[in-house]
Amino acid sequence: MLTERQRSRIRACCKDEQGFATIMEIIQAERKELERAKTDFFSEIGHELRTPLTTIQGTLSLLAREVPGPLPQRAREMVERAIENSIKLRDLINYFIDLQRLQSGSAELRLQPVDLYRLLDQALSNLRPFAARRQIRLILDEDSPRVRVEADPDRLAQVISNLLSNAIKFSPSNSTITVQIDRCGATGRFSISDQGPGIPPEIQQRLFRRFVKANTADQRQAGGSGLGLNICKAIVEGLDGRIWFTTAAGSGTTFHVELPAATPHPAPAPEQDEATP
Ligand SMILES: Nc1ncnc2c1ncn2[C@@H]1O[C@H](COP(=O)(O)OP(=O)(O)OP(=O)(O)O)[C@@H](O)[C@H]1O
Ligand SMILES: [Mg+2]
Repeated sequence: MLTERQRSRIRACCKDEQGFATIMEIIQAERKELERAKTDFFSEIGHELRTPLTTIQGTLSLLAREVPGPLPQRAREMVERAIENSIKLRDLINYFIDLQRLQSGSAELRLQPVDLYRLLDQALSNLRPFAARRQIRLILDEDSPRVRVEADPDRLAQVISNLLSNAIKFSPSNSTITVQIDRCGATGRFSISDQGPGIPPEIQQRLFRRFVKANTADQRQAGGSGLGLNICKAIVEGLDGRIWFTTAAGSGTTFHVELPAATPHPAPAPEQDEATP
């Protein structure tokens, strides 16, 4: 985006409005071309990195299964660590390719009416076994209104899954995570609340940027790359929505996502009785 100052400088160089409009058109076209070249570049790099990584992962998996022959205990541990890190690297590459596509607008979003209750209920069922290992209860408020939003269900499921897995990662054992749905005028909103430690004040302002993580013992144990919320924001904004949080040290965090409500289906036309004039 050009700043107002840059625009006035260009205008000062032009003889008339027509000249200004032509130059602005050229700049816009050039910018689009650059954006496309950047997306192509990232996607090529992504493929170039993914191909050898797949081969490395295949080899490591053969070693872990001791196909070439038995491994000493120490070597087995080293192979396990290499596998864990290769998975992290693969996720990182996928994140970057995905983010680039979302931010450049080249990711296709398949918009359709999505029933928030059904999508959240499904996500909670998928994550319950993971939460149950630490005696964390996942509750979807049954009195929530049935709201349908206009969204890409797969992308929205990706957002919900990151918010829920963050809530689980940072919740103490024997606590509860509550999900609530609300209708607010022309938007539908869901909120995910945990009883965890809260977001440290020093990272709150930057939380949705890449690689931002707390520097706490809880965090080191939870792991993570600090990219999930950055992707969530890109997806939610790509869906014309907004994402934000409220947090309090020691008493928990709530993430809210608001999206445009789906336009209701037009009421079916009353059936015409052919006999009546
Ligand atoms: N519910 C929460 N309670 C406390 N801290 C949180 C919560 N959600 C996010 N955070 C903080 O925000 C950071 C960024 O979250 P984000 O989802 O972007 O990355 P991550 O979970 O660390 O890794 P990943 O890339 O695998 O999602 C977390 O590492 C944590 O420090
Ligand atoms: Mg995360």
